[in-house]
Amino acid sequence: MFFLSTILASAVALIPSPKSLQISAGCVMTTPYENVTVLNASQIEEIFKNPSKSGIMLEIGDNCFSGASEWGTKEGYRMEIAEAGMKLFASTKAGAMYGIQTYMQLCASGQLCTGTIVDEPSHRYRGILFDVSRHFRDVAFIKKQLNAMAFLKLNRLHFHLDDSVGWRLELDSHPELVASTSFRKELYYIKPSTFLGVPEDYVPGTVWNEPDCYGGYYSKSQMKEIIAYADSLNITIIPEIEVPGHSGEFHACHPELFCPTSDATSESVCPGREETFKFYQEILSEVIELFPSEYIHIGGDEARKDSWKTCPFCRKRIAEEHLKDEQELQSYTVRRIADFVTSKGKKIIGWDEIMEGGLHKDATVMCWRDIKYGEEAASQGNDVIMAPMEYLYLDKYQNSNHLEPEAMFGYVPFDKVCSFRLPESKNIIGVQANLWSEYIVDDSQYEYMLYPRAFAVAQLGWSSWESAPTPFYEGFRENVKKLSGLFRKSGYTVFDFDREQEPDAIILGSVTKHKAYQATYTYMGLHPEQKPEMLDTRLTDGKERTSLRFDGPGSVTIKLKKRTNICVVCGVFQRKTGRDLMMLPSEVRVWVSQDGKKYSLAGVRRPLADDTKTDWQISYFPVFGEHKGIQYVRMDFTPSASCKSTGLTEIIVE
Ligand code: ACM
Ligand code: ZN
Repeated sequence: MFFLSTILASAVALIPSPKSLQISAGCVMTTPYENVTVLNASQIEEIFKNPSKSGIMLEIGDNCFSGASEWGTKEGYRMEIAEAGMKLFASTKAGAMYGIQTYMQLCASGQLCTGTIVDEPSHRYRGILFDVSRHFRDVAFIKKQLNAMAFLKLNRLHFHLDDSVGWRLELDSHPELVASTSFRKELYYIKPSTFLGVPEDYVPGTVWNEPDCYGGYYSKSQMKEIIAYADSLNITIIPEIEVPGHSGEFHACHPELFCPTSDATSESVCPGREETFKFYQEILSEVIELFPSEYIHIGGDEARKDSWKTCPFCRKRIAEEHLKDEQELQSYTVRRIADFVTSKGKKIIGWDEIMEGGLHKDATVMCWRDIKYGEEAASQGNDVIMAPMEYLYLDKYQNSNHLEPEAMFGYVPFDKVCSFRLPESKNIIGVQANLWSEYIVDDSQYEYMLYPRAFAVAQLGWSSWESAPTPFYEGFRENVKKLSGLFRKSGYTVFDFDREQEPDAIILGSVTKHKAYQATYTYMGLHPEQKPEMLDTRLTDGKERTSLRFDGPGSVTIKLKKRTNICVVCGVFQRKTGRDLMMLPSEVRVWVSQDGKKYSLAGVRRPLADDTKTDWQISYFPVFGEHKGIQYVRMDFTPSASCKSTGLTEIIVE
């Protein structure tokens, strides 16, 4: 029965696919809504006011729909479609709204058949993160995306409101935050940013983009408007206030909350100072009052701790609290903030680094690095939201890089999102995709990165396709194309599947044997914005176009999987103009070793030609010569005279 209904679900263009669907044979009804588009909140409200006008008979009430779980009851619905019209049963308005969305999808696809749908979500948390710090988006844009999210039965918008490069929420307790740090000089984010005051005729809630002044913020009343709008679509807005890292805006306004040993590049506050906690409490009190969400996200990711090592306040705190080191100082900080938030009746979410140095018992972990962190937190009994970078970071390329606008390094095509499987655990409450906006400047590009990958996220969160047969997935891709058409008709920009192309695995394709393939390596001289822990396979992944950026002289040492004879070592470098300017190195030296201690020089190479007419260039720096029993290969390179950044994309050993 389940098998049959999933096949039928694939035949009918519904995303996410319903839990069960039975179609009466042979009957396809004429569509009452030929011009269906993605509905906004007021259009949905109109249907609620006068459902029969749309051919809907509505019954909402306690005994109308009972799901497999509490939230299933809250969000689920049953729909009976007959020639006389559609009957919709739900225990809440949210469930009925999802029923209406399903009905709209059926109408839009011209596939309104007589039959029955019984539907409820498999997971209660189905979210998307919007990073409005790197690039601010206006209120109208946010509402438009909320319409789309509701259409896809997504129910959480994680609002990333600060990230060192722009503070986006007006606060009465600290008006200086928007006044001083919601505008910056640069369109692209740069750390530390050159912050500017608010332009005189700025209208809150809009994007200001004038030469040398860029940004925006939400007034409190606008945020209330967004929250209420989202609520009418069963979407909760979850605010994120970053603790203790990514806090460059605070440094710009309140250097007194930072370690005396830190400078303008420091993004982590000083947890040795008591004023820091007072400041967070003031901000969080207001945030907690403003947002009805049961959760407040307190960040916790990628906190730099260098200044804590030498700061007298931090050392004193570590000694007094009997903490082992800076890791424990981080968990002390998170714990204090979490206790404060919890004391106000809210729950905290933190990125999975909050597990380091001891996880707060009431914290919900948002897993973004390796899936293992999420599984570990769930096994400890904490709630977990899965948002792993490898599958659900929508800032990464969805297509072969050279066909796409510049994006975050990494490749997460539609199929990759679909291939994610939520681990089985009652503590894994759902899934979230993250749209970081470092490279995303305008509305259309935001949507382009979101759709259709968000369709797959909706499917992951609402429906399980664990046991679905292959034709289901084939059908799913077809449905995505149909739904993409509906989105375009509704004014959204959507990436076109027909342009999908595998990225070139040029290097592996042209090299007979890549002896360093997937070998591990260490490096020196990495650009400070690169995140070393995530980059550990890119130089040996067999692919071009995923380069590591170095600043000044760089050095990479590869450990081959076993001792072997080698005859070519080739550095593959990338030159790129534009914002992340990278030039080819002026010189490359290759060293080889049998034991990792004693190295001999295998050769030196300088660029043959530098094609400065193109904005993108891959160049090979091969060094030839036979060497026996080698296990270690080291490549040292010197940047060009004109630019200290160098992009290395692969080291091939043959
Ligand atoms: C993250 O991507 N730093 C959570
Ligand atoms: Zn300190």
